[in-house]
Amino acid sequence: MIIDPAAQSFRDTHKLLIGSIVPRPIAFVSTLAPDGTPNLAPFSFFTAISSDPPAICFAPGHRACDDARKDTFNNIQATGEFVVNVVTESILVQANATATEFPPEIDEFRESGLTPAPSRVVKPPRVLESPINMECRLHQIVTLGPDRAGGAFLVIGIIVMFHVADALYADGRIDIEKLQPVARLGGIEFTTLGRRIALPRGVWKPPAAAGRAAANGAHGGGRGGDGA
Ligand SMILES: Cc1cc2nc3c(=O)[nH]c(=O)nc-3n(C[C@H](O)[C@H](O)[C@H](O)COP(=O)(O)O)c2cc1C
Repeated sequence: MIIDPAAQSFRDTHKLLIGSIVPRPIAFVSTLAPDGTPNLAPFSFFTAISSDPPAICFAPGHRACDDARKDTFNNIQATGEFVVNVVTESILVQANATATEFPPEIDEFRESGLTPAPSRVVKPPRVLESPINMECRLHQIVTLGPDRAGGAFLVIGIIVMFHVADALYADGRIDIEKLQPVARLGGIEFTTLGRRIALPRGVWKPPAAAGRAAANGAHGGGRGGDGA
């Protein structure tokens, strides 16, 4: 089947996207409105971008009910700060509850029962129940599409502080079994860790060096540290 996005509604294209690009990690984003009202919402158009500086991006769109810009976006645009909290199995139900399109004066920490904890560098609180929090400063906003449902803003943030639960962290690595991350699928479905596959990454050797390595009985292989 060939699907031309220009020949269908953005809603159908949205369903196609969220069913095809799976599973997606979830940025559970805490912000503060200029008047100090805390806000919390999940975003699965989210990924890491670079390590130096440590940067992430996520994409708040517009509310389907009234085309309005989302509170998370408005708060970040106004204050330049936010926290990305990792969603785990133990807080999935609460994280999903914060996706209700509440008006800006509603505090989703209170609605969900999650606990605001002070951040070190930025003003928005982090989610105490989330084992990994990333304090971020706004780097750039890229506008995509119209200023109504269907269009979105790509928010790029630089991480200025990590909080990682001690129990998860050993030898500079996160223990993914202990983390119990959750990802979003299409529709209203989520998924937890499935079967894991470990594969060593090949190392390119120029022909002359490869010839010498073969003569010495050496093989390529190893972990790449430069990519994702
Ligand atoms: C798991 C999950 C992922 C979501 N991902 C996105 C997303 O990437 N972009 C978006 O605009 N809305 C996304 N939403 C919807 C927002 O969370 C929802 O519109 C929320 O009410 C926005 O809150 P705010 O207005 O307080 O920022 C997602 C909802 C859920 C449950």
